Amino acid sequence: MSGVSDFVVVANRLPVDRTDTGWGTSPGGLVAALAPVLRARSGSWVGWPGEAGARIEPFTSEGIDLHPVYLDECDFQNFYEGMANSTLWPLYHDLIVAPRYDNLWWEAYRDVNERFAHATAAAAARNAVVWVQDYQLQLVPGILRRLRPDLTVGFFLHIPFPSPDLFRQLPWRNEVMEGFAGADLVGFQRAEDERNYRALVGDAGPRTGAFPISIDPAAIPRGGQGDVEKLRASLGNPVTMMLGVDRLDYTKGILHRLLAVENLLEKGLLSDVAVVQLAIPSRERIDQYKQTRREVEEAVGRINGRFGRVGSPVVHYLHRAVPKRDLGALYTAADVMLVTPFKDGMNLVAKEYVSCHPDGDGALVLSEFAGAAAELRDAYLCNPFDVSSIEQAIIDAVAGDPARMRAMHRWVAQHDVARWAACFLDEL
Ligand code: ADP
Ligand code: F6P
Repeated sequence: MSGVSDFVVVANRLPVDRTDTGWGTSPGGLVAALAPVLRARSGSWVGWPGEAGARIEPFTSEGIDLHPVYLDECDFQNFYEGMANSTLWPLYHDLIVAPRYDNLWWEAYRDVNERFAHATAAAAARNAVVWVQDYQLQLVPGILRRLRPDLTVGFFLHIPFPSPDLFRQLPWRNEVMEGFAGADLVGFQRAEDERNYRALVGDAGPRTGAFPISIDPAAIPRGGQGDVEKLRASLGNPVTMMLGVDRLDYTKGILHRLLAVENLLEKGLLSDVAVVQLAIPSRERIDQYKQTRREVEEAVGRINGRFGRVGSPVVHYLHRAVPKRDLGALYTAADVMLVTPFKDGMNLVAKEYVSCHPDGDGALVLSEFAGAAAELRDAYLCNPFDVSSIEQAIIDAVAGDPARMRAMHRWVAQHDVARWAACFLDEL
């Protein structure tokens, strides 16, 4: 493994995650998008290996030099579960749950950002390009500017940037803004996020732009006819198969979409339907995540109790990650994909589904508050806060028009993640 690199990505998580049973792919859209970019360009990745208290030496995985950053249990609680995911995450997702402001968490956030910046400075060659990712590491550009003025530093925020009124709640807002200011270019998912940021800094601050992230279409292979037939048969060959694929997060609106299905079944507007809901475990020790899980699982049980038959439930629910090949078969087999977040930076699941439907079959129900809605205008858009709006979008999607999926497929095929990375890095 080489000592220093000309191109370094810094993200909270490495693309691989240490689990009880070995190494697996890390969860989330950030890793799904960036791993193929780094495999295509040689470079290094600085990040946390996913286990508190694990000291791991640098190593290489699938052609990427990985530089693990050490976090202990205290960092995990105060930086990751606290400041990142109980303060910034809910604040930036428009207060779906109330953020908590805790000085101890902020101190940990500052310390951990310092540690990431030092690890990055050690991994970066002279005049290297460093690309810092997401809300966990907002101070890193500012620290790097001080440590290594020779570097070119980009920052990309994968989640929404909130309206100025909300952002001003943050007790440490000035420090966060100083962190952003250390970057040569700050990228956002949508023009709306960029506008929110600009409303705070005016003409001052770094260059900014909207760069909607995308997928690597090769990463999730379409299911073959045999796989799809087998899968549908295992669901009892329903007339309509619907699918939800999410991290189990309160932002994703899983409960509301299940309520919409339940209402349609109750009104007799939907019959012979099977719903597959995959929910990848996420941030499991945080109370609101525990509550979301309870609510979702209660709804699954209730719907199956009311409308299922022995050997044939309506909702097939898996609380775990599945291999990419299985995911591809599910996307390909599903007649209707349900993507109903209350707020989402982009939502790559929507684009992965579209990518598996080149022939015009399938229909996408999509929240108007997902970043993807700005591009996938031919989806059946809904307001996820209004269950009746989700119901209507499902009814329209079931009777879907194939021309709409074809148009979206063309868009996603032309705007893949390689193009996203090239746009950002060229501008940088
Ligand atoms: P987020 O970044 O908030 O998790 P995205 O929709 O942008 O949301 O990205 C989620 C990523 O995680 C996608 O690439 C998707 O394929 C993957 N994923 C989600 N749930 C599962 C699951 N149960 N098994 C395997 N992959 C999953
Ligand atoms: O894309 C949003 C995001 O929060 C990433 O920043 C993150 O890596 C991913 O989802 C998964 O979340 P976590 O790293 O907390 O498991």
